[in-house]
Amino acid sequence: MKNKNVIRTPEYHPLTWRIRDDHQPVWLAEYEGRNGYRGMRKAFSIASREVITLIKNSGLRGRGGGGFLTGLKWSMMMPESVSSRHVSYLICNADEMEPGTYKDRFLMERMPHLLIEGILIAAYAIQAHRGYIFLRYEYIESAKYLQRAINEATHVGLIGDNILSTGFNFELFIHTGAGRYICGEETALINSLEGRRPIPRAKPPFPSHVGIWGKPTCVNNVETLCNLPAILDYGVDWYKGISLGKSNDTGTKLMGFSGHVNNPGIWEFPFGITAREILEDYAGGMIDRATLKAWQPGGASTAFLTIKHIDVPMDFDSIANFGSRLGTAMSIAVSNNISMVSLVRNLEEFFSRESCGWCTPCRDGLPWILKILVGLENNNGHVSDIAVLKKMCRILGPGNTFCAHAPGAVEPLKSALRYFEDEFMAGVLLL
Ligand SMILES: Cc1cc2nc3c(=O)[nH]c(=O)nc-3n(C[C@H](O)[C@H](O)[C@H](O)COP(=O)(O)O)c2cc1C
Ligand code: SF4
Repeated sequence: MKNKNVIRTPEYHPLTWRIRDDHQPVWLAEYEGRNGYRGMRKAFSIASREVITLIKNSGLRGRGGGGFLTGLKWSMMMPESVSSRHVSYLICNADEMEPGTYKDRFLMERMPHLLIEGILIAAYAIQAHRGYIFLRYEYIESAKYLQRAINEATHVGLIGDNILSTGFNFELFIHTGAGRYICGEETALINSLEGRRPIPRAKPPFPSHVGIWGKPTCVNNVETLCNLPAILDYGVDWYKGISLGKSNDTGTKLMGFSGHVNNPGIWEFPFGITAREILEDYAGGMIDRATLKAWQPGGASTAFLTIKHIDVPMDFDSIANFGSRLGTAMSIAVSNNISMVSLVRNLEEFFSRESCGWCTPCRDGLPWILKILVGLENNNGHVSDIAVLKKMCRILGPGNTFCAHAPGAVEPLKSALRYFEDEFMAGVLLL
């Protein structure tokens, strides 16, 4: 995180106001000294059902990319909607393999206790007695820091039996993944955690009813969980008012810019700040005075937008109105001297490699798309290639595959064809 020109306050930077300038993690004593675990204490002082209502009222939307309402997801775990509720589980999704996204890593490496506090609040709310942090394989520092924080919290009785004398028991484990993008999809993650091949499961039943080992399971993203302590501590009205009316979305979001910018980084903003403000005022504008050609709002699987859209407010609905997705809100800037064909070929190479192979359109379609793109990149394309690519985008679109990997994979291609079709046409071999 670049802290230039940013004065972080608890009121406007609930996720990051405690971070240290020396880039070291905030350990337990310091965290508790700065109101740490106060939100959790407040949560544990009311009924678990009331915590769910509070989070529902806060309007918190999941930060894992989909923007699903967290309180609503939790309420699906309630006893009346689940037939056998002897055991339930909470899983923190820390797989974070979306290219261009490193926000969860930032939180885990700098504020491990914030995540643990969030996990404890969520676990109490849904009455889960065991939790797992499913952690990206390569996040070695995060694993080290989280384990130390878990040990610290266990040592003082914040994790374990009869926490804060409430009778609530909770144990927490870190599970490192095996380095596959699909493990971030919540049901593939559950399969992986069970030791099975990580392929998505059929839905319904949803994990809230039949999750890990057949038991009700809630999967929440790292950043989602990190939002919880401040909501409990400062209240719903404060949380809903942070954007000062600039957005319908509540709270703050870690947002960033990488790619061809002078000052790539990650910052915490209320929803509603525009992409231009982040790019120019925080990310230092385009490198070497280049012009912005295209940008992806929230990771590699979000549709490209262009300079025409740069004044869009960064929130779920505004970005969707322009045909893309907020995704992880970690934007990627592309300068005007970059070939969109090469860039999209690079992205599709990744998505093709990361297909789990479970359904045909994705398993066979992505390598086919890649093959066509390689041809176009080498000025060796066929005159029918553009039409085939457009058809493939439809075939791999929402509703035709087992999970959202394939629809996400074709978003960059579809949008690049929408805005830069001439570049693809230029790769057709004219005989
Ligand atoms: C291919 C694919 C990869 C995903 N990767 C992640 C990921 O790395 N982290 C994450 O939190 N969610 C990821 N998701 C979304 C999860 O399935 C799930 O919706 C999310 O963890 C729910 O958390 P939230 O409600 O707190 O946002 C991915 C989804 C798909 C289809
Ligand atoms: S869409 Fe792709 S990643 Fe998802 S289940 Fe099908 S083959 Fe696997």
